Amino acid sequence: MTTPAAEKMTSKQSIQAYYQPVLPYLDTVREKLLNIVPPESQLLAEALHHSLGTGGKLLRPVVCLLACGATGKIKDSHLETSAISEMIHIATLLHDDVLDDADLRRGKVTVRSLWGNPVSILSGDYLLAQASRKLAQVGSIRIVSIYSDVLADLCDGEVEQIRASYNLDALDWDSYYRKTICKTATLFSAGCEAAGVLNDLPEEHVQKLKQFGKNFGIAFQIVDDLLDYTSNEADMGKPVFDDLKNGLVNAPVLLALKSDQALNDTEKTEFKQVIRRFFDVDATSKNEATELVQSIQMYLGKARAIEETQALAESFITKALNAIDFLPNTPEKEALIGLGRFVIERKT
Ligand code: FPP
Ligand code: MG
Repeated sequence: MTTPAAEKMTSKQSIQAYYQPVLPYLDTVREKLLNIVPPESQLLAEALHHSLGTGGKLLRPVVCLLACGATGKIKDSHLETSAISEMIHIATLLHDDVLDDADLRRGKVTVRSLWGNPVSILSGDYLLAQASRKLAQVGSIRIVSIYSDVLADLCDGEVEQIRASYNLDALDWDSYYRKTICKTATLFSAGCEAAGVLNDLPEEHVQKLKQFGKNFGIAFQIVDDLLDYTSNEADMGKPVFDDLKNGLVNAPVLLALKSDQALNDTEKTEFKQVIRRFFDVDATSKNEATELVQSIQMYLGKARAIEETQALAESFITKALNAIDFLPNTPEKEALIGLGRFVIERKT
């Protein structure tokens, strides 16, 4: 299904390679982000400027714009919609850093760390207000409805994550997928669905674009889960094993504890005990933490959980790419395919 041109693109290292067809529009999207209605408060303005300028990859706007370009000509409403996706994304991060007590984001100091939790939350709220304003300007009830669902999903997913965290006795793939779709996939699927709607595609094709975004987003999150175990702090801009330390029992651990042959029942019980000790270990007990990390790696290795997680991510990318088979061959479609491959091969 992957065309030779897309194969060639995947061999490139940087994600920017797949941005090419929409590169001329990204400066406009950045401008739209920076030109939101400025607040009266100087402090809020500084916090917003900090959060909007911390060098995000703009992956959500890019996927939205590629879907727009793959199905028609790029119009201002597409640029507005892709900017809305990023504004909502940044708003969630401003809130998420408060929930996670995070001092670093993308290797840079967070708004909460510089100005405190209330300013971080209110900056996020301000961005949501500006995103609502832009949504009204796009002038489509369906687009408003799509993004209202996104906001509801994001809250739903975050609360589902809180409910399931630090809980090894109720391991549940339904909960994991629900959380993943709501927290991560929703903005990708919304951007792709919106592209189809704004280009007046038949409903069947709108739904296929939505499926692309959803499966792309699930794969993206699964690889994110994986990188928490396989990457390093310098590349990720945050500590590794951070998810597990924060009680998130994500794909590699779920797969290791599910695998029928690899770990026997005694090993699974021991593995859970190690994870519980890791949840509780004091950050200052460096030696104990290192020992527990090594032990967790041993169990994951025995269960081949890293390989299985990679295969799981690949299966979702295959679903995503199958969903856009209907698109005519264009540079935008090639870039969507290339991005899909990149997302599962990325190392950061
Ligand atoms: C990052 O998660 C956070 C999200 C993808 C969504 C967070 C959602 C909320 C805080 C609730 C809804 C908020 C709004 C503004 C509607 P992570 O902690 O797993 O990833 P990270 O490593 O990037 O912090
Ligand atoms: Mg976080």
